[in-house]
Amino acid sequence: AACGGGDGSAAKGGDGALVMGFAQVGAESGWRTANTKSVQESAKSAGVELKFSDAQQKQENQIKAIRSYIQQKVDVIAFSPVVESGWDTVLKEAKEANIPVILTDRAVDSKDTSLYKTFLGSDFIEEGRKAGKWLVEEYKDSKDPVNIVELQGTTGSAPANDRKAGFAEVVSADSKFNVIASQSGDFTRAKGKEVMEAFLKANPKIDVLYAHNDDMGLGAIEAIEGAGKVPGKDIKIITVDAVHDGMQALADGKINYIVECSPLLGPQLMDLAKKVVKGEQVPARVVTEETTFTQEQAKQALPTRQY
Ligand code: AHR
Repeated sequence: AACGGGDGSAAKGGDGALVMGFAQVGAESGWRTANTKSVQESAKSAGVELKFSDAQQKQENQIKAIRSYIQQKVDVIAFSPVVESGWDTVLKEAKEANIPVILTDRAVDSKDTSLYKTFLGSDFIEEGRKAGKWLVEEYKDSKDPVNIVELQGTTGSAPANDRKAGFAEVVSADSKFNVIASQSGDFTRAKGKEVMEAFLKANPKIDVLYAHNDDMGLGAIEAIEGAGKVPGKDIKIITVDAVHDGMQALADGKINYIVECSPLLGPQLMDLAKKVVKGEQVPARVVTEETTFTQEQAKQALPTRQY
């Protein structure tokens, strides 16, 4: 890759391919593993030479990876930002080097939107709202207080901020819903279990768990069972993602509802990358299409689920 950068001169890799530097968040969840697979497989089938790095959930590692892609003069940089803030400097460096940037999965809070070409990913606020709406419907005939505990995703990440906000917007309309504890479980199973254990110790009456992803919900299920309670019955559970293990727990009755967040962003990402490198116009925002699953729907969807 020599002179890529949305100036109409699509640069070529060693074998004539477009070169993409992709800075991944980490391997914190089933969702992330499926996302990485999608990016790697679609790069292959789109003939894109992929340079891939795993930031192990650390912003400084992602910034290092992006700087190294700038140095290597890749044609396009794509990344899923660990957190929302603190990207302006490195994004300006990419812009000055004339290397287009595509945000995938997660957003940044940079005011200057010219620092990236497009943002491909889910509407996380809407995902939070969907979780809240299910809960409102589930308890529509009850006047009793509903005690909710929340397992947040990685602190400062777009999905944690937005899933919290969307959910709160819906449930705060009815004062019977109380979020009695809310803490980060960093999107991992181990942390989800650990934080849920602490929630259970501190709160004798928990009616509902809202976990920002399946993995934290699955960890929490272990904590709930360990405390002698029945997940899905004694404590209702709502999660986000709909990865295979989450869907299995939903079909088994241990989770009550899952809001889907699709990790299969690879094919659209490759398509957008080719366009921006050629200097073609792309939409500023590409929102992923997603659904929701009840226990019955999970049983039907599981056999043909891709991830
Ligand atoms: O950014 C998407 C989120 O990141 C997924 O919902 C979560 O599982 C992952 O770690």
